[in-house]
Amino acid sequence: MREMCLHTSVKVYTYDEFSQEDRELIDAARNATSRSYAPYSKFNVGAAVRLADGIVVTGNNQENAAYPSGLCAERTTLFWANAQYPDTPIDTLVIAARNENGELGIPIPPCGACRQVILEVEKRYNRAIRIVLYGAKECYVIEDGIKALLPLCFDSDFLDKE
Ligand code: THU
Repeated sequence: MREMCLHTSVKVYTYDEFSQEDRELIDAARNATSRSYAPYSKFNVGAAVRLADGIVVTGNNQENAAYPSGLCAERTTLFWANAQYPDTPIDTLVIAARNENGELGIPIPPCGACRQVILEVEKRYNRAIRIVLYGAKECYVIEDGIKALLPLCFDSDFLDKE
């Protein structure tokens, strides 16, 4: 037997420590929470991506009375970005959330399904996505892509293996 240790590094920032460019993207994700459609959970999630050429795309969670038919903010945003700009890789993804009491102090991490979609987008463009999870008290930054949040992940490489 041998043990495999899978290392994950998450950097913790406060909002003030980010560059102007990052703060603009963070604010775009925060603003996107206000356009979310979440009448059932009343949990409003916003996402913003900056593409490699600087274009910013935002999205949010879209719920449905048939609950599983709704979609998270991250996937809404990534699918929209890829649908509009299929030739442009994504540089940074920001996620922000608020509930009925306002913005959350501690960031929310992406759900498992969104992690898998982020992985697919990274694979598609052969480029890791920088992920920023916004919280009013502290923010988490994952610099080297989704694999830090999805160890031992399944991707298309396995489909070609014998
Ligand atoms: N949600 C997101 O949009 N992103 C996440 O990372 C976690 C959860 C949404 C789905 C649903 O509309 C609401 O938040 C409550 O789960």
